[in-house]
Amino acid sequence: MKNLYIDDLPDYFKQYKKSIKNPKKFWDKIADEGFVWYQRWTKVVDFDMEKAQIKWFKNAKLNITKNCIDRHLAQRGDKTAIIFEPNDPLEKAQYISYRELHERVCKMANVLKDLGVEKGDRVCIYLPMIPELAVTMLACARMGAVHSVIFAGFSDSAVSSRVNDCGAKVIVCSDGSYRGTKSIDLKEIIDKAVENCPTVEKVVVVRRTGTEVTMKEGRDLWLDTLLEKASSDFVSKIMDAEDPLFILYTSGSTGKPKGMLHTTAGYMVYTAYTFKNVFNYRENDIYWCTADIGWITGHSYILYGPLANGATTVIFEGVPTYPEPDRFWQVIDKHKVTQFYTAPTAIRSLAKESTQWVEKYDLSSLRVIGSVGEPINDEAWHWYNDHVGKKKCPIVDTWWQTETGGIMISPIPFVTPTKPTYATLPLPGIQPVLMDEKRNEITGNQVDGNLCIRFPWPGIARTIWGDHQRYVETYFTAFPGKYFTGDGALRDETGYYRITGRVDDVIIVSGHNLGTAPIEDAINQHPAVAESAIVGYPHEIKGSALYGYVTLKESGQVRDRENLRKEINLLISDMIGPIAKLDKIQFVSGLPKTRSGKIMRRILRKIAEGDFSSFGDTSTLLNPEIVEEIKNDRIG
Ligand code: WTA
Repeated sequence: MKNLYIDDLPDYFKQYKKSIKNPKKFWDKIADEGFVWYQRWTKVVDFDMEKAQIKWFKNAKLNITKNCIDRHLAQRGDKTAIIFEPNDPLEKAQYISYRELHERVCKMANVLKDLGVEKGDRVCIYLPMIPELAVTMLACARMGAVHSVIFAGFSDSAVSSRVNDCGAKVIVCSDGSYRGTKSIDLKEIIDKAVENCPTVEKVVVVRRTGTEVTMKEGRDLWLDTLLEKASSDFVSKIMDAEDPLFILYTSGSTGKPKGMLHTTAGYMVYTAYTFKNVFNYRENDIYWCTADIGWITGHSYILYGPLANGATTVIFEGVPTYPEPDRFWQVIDKHKVTQFYTAPTAIRSLAKESTQWVEKYDLSSLRVIGSVGEPINDEAWHWYNDHVGKKKCPIVDTWWQTETGGIMISPIPFVTPTKPTYATLPLPGIQPVLMDEKRNEITGNQVDGNLCIRFPWPGIARTIWGDHQRYVETYFTAFPGKYFTGDGALRDETGYYRITGRVDDVIIVSGHNLGTAPIEDAINQHPAVAESAIVGYPHEIKGSALYGYVTLKESGQVRDRENLRKEINLLISDMIGPIAKLDKIQFVSGLPKTRSGKIMRRILRKIAEGDFSSFGDTSTLLNPEIVEEIKNDRIG
């Protein structure tokens, strides 16, 4: 993919214009130049946005692993495809070349085939961040099976509901996983889950922690034994452009998780193209994304996007704070990482620590640093910029979703001037529009509204597995003819976008729309504050009023709480206006977070409302114990 770079700002605008004027021609060229196909497409795109029927590269034939592995063998056979950095820094890192990856993927595909897995069958993967996770996903893709990775932190009931929803035949798991000082018995969780999963025929177990497990005769098999006799030849299956590649579950605002289905060609083209440009990828780079592969970020930007570009990608098993809160910086220094991609929640938690941790290391290899998953607040942006990027590395604040498959709005490093807390401009091919409540498009700049996308792009999910109607209703009904993201955004005077948060988090106070993100941003500027979350609660006069949950840095713990409340409100008044002041501020020792680091506002909202009757599904919480504390200290 040599010719697909965006060189400078005028080039960006030129390419952007072209991509909007003639999207078919634009994507046709990208697909043509960058990939290997068994057969070309007969039509670039075919779509009906009302029915949510979308097809890209119609009738093309390909295999994504030929693009991610085989085609690199001639020139990059000995190049490292994957660096595996284990949880324990004393355990040796592994360097897996493209050739070795090819062999391992072929063997794994033969193992699955021998177990009876066929094209179109679903395989659930419940593995920690170890090389076998990547190998198993690629093996599925090579043989045409549909992988569904379930984050290896989900409970057995969360696992079984996902396995049952997609009707998986095989589960690949490990005996256990390491996370910091902890080791978790994953096989035990699978044993419980599978009791309620009638479709599962085989459970393949990867040896990682060596913990004792029970193996059920006829169902459970050790992977290492199966691999011993597996052949290292496996001819990749010829897949149609629209054949399913994977299902990945994402939580809806309510109800059961949605199995987002991504298909083959469009997803490949989109992740490869965006990876190249958003990370300014060059041949000898060492790229590291700290996400878990159990989330979309890991699928698109640890695995498929980087490998489609022949990159070296780091898979990190551990956590940022083990053994010390300097692990990220130590690993960047150790492997001379050039691109580092992480989440605001990680940045904020590390920014709480002394800067000595980050100053200990040589981070001069870094060229681009990225952020994803939630709005990055001003304070975290600057800390990241000052202490990690050393003001030399552009920060790519990348906005996208499980549903979008790849990055949608982001600066292009060395091309788009960055602006703190702004995801800036849409990538070529992406047409964001802001819509008001009456379904009218809001034109011009210095406006805000519901973020929608006008035209399909190759990476968009094609359906919710088994429930196309829900797909149509969730994303294509609120604003007919457009994809509705569920996010709010503002467009500044220069046309830059800033994501203001989920629109379901907007709180209307005395008739004024207030985004939670900017208020939290303001609060977080207070030197004593670590993190905050705002929710609305019913108020007699204003309709809704604001309730803030605030965690303090070490330095704030001893201070006069009443005074601190006043200072926080003064700050909000200063930065947004008195209307955004909080009626109640509760200091808490932590916020309830999902395992992917998102604050679970639903619970906070209920507590603020004084409704303790049902908190809904809390199985995805990382720290369920915090709920009790927050409830007990609620300000009535
Ligand atoms: C939020 C993660 C602000 C947003 C790739 C979106 C962001 C949801 C950003 C999707 C960003 C993601 N700035 N908000 N840079 N990136 N979000 O499906 O609310 O886990 O709708 O995909 O995260 O989360 P998901």
